[in-house]
Amino acid sequence: MIIVKNLKRYYGTGATIVKALNGVTFEINKGEIVAIMGASGSGKTTLLRILALLDDATEGEYTIQGLEVSSLPESERSYYRLTKVGYVFQDYALINEMSAAENVYVLSMMEGKSKKDSYDIALEALDKVGLKDKHARVPDELSGGEKQRVAIARAIAKKPDILFADEPCANLDTTNSRQVLEVFKELNEKYGQTIVMVTHEQWHTKYVDRVITLKDGNIISDEMERK
Ligand SMILES: Nc1ncnc2c1ncn2[C@@H]1O[C@H](COP(=O)(O)OP(=O)(O)O)[C@@H](O)[C@H]1O
Ligand SMILES: [Mg+2]
Repeated sequence: MIIVKNLKRYYGTGATIVKALNGVTFEINKGEIVAIMGASGSGKTTLLRILALLDDATEGEYTIQGLEVSSLPESERSYYRLTKVGYVFQDYALINEMSAAENVYVLSMMEGKSKKDSYDIALEALDKVGLKDKHARVPDELSGGEKQRVAIARAIAKKPDILFADEPCANLDTTNSRQVLEVFKELNEKYGQTIVMVTHEQWHTKYVDRVITLKDGNIISDEMERK
């Protein structure tokens, strides 16, 4: 599903160059749930942002669902970004003045779908994360874990090929983290959602199939989790 070949991302030039990704090569299969681990600064966010087309690589190729996205023109990149990938941020990135459902359906509305269709899509996505009954609440009326689950609902509303999540539990306590991880696991098991999640908590790895570890922009291990 994802094939990444010799991916590099350098920031800056000359003496101050930072080699955030130093040539990484790997594949992710459809239906896998994968954790990307590694110390702070090892290149995890850089990798995720490139794969989600939020940033460009300096060198290397990557193919998603047979499409070589690394060389797509910008017009197709934005279409791809909006429809094929979902992205969950550490800080939820919800709009405070909007209900959970509105936060989820804002993207469908932007696409020109009717309010009714957008609402139905939002409720279906909220149902998948166990929050259908809280669709009318604004973010302030939700726990941290619930806020992150609304952000996940927004990311999966388009039924993306791949869901990326960058430290989705970084601001959550253990109970809320567990709820979020269980939602990922269920999306993966029930709907076959492919998920790539960055984390630095070892206990999170029991929710995934495979762990890829980065160090200084290189992959230092890539192992299946024993269940
Ligand atoms: N926009 C940027 N400009 C310059 N250096 C950056 C930028 N973003 C990240 N870096 C550097 O690239 C390296 C990898 O960063 P990052 O991918 O954020 O790591 P991680 O997510 O694993 O903590 C770090 O050394 C970081 O300082
Ligand atoms: Mg990071």
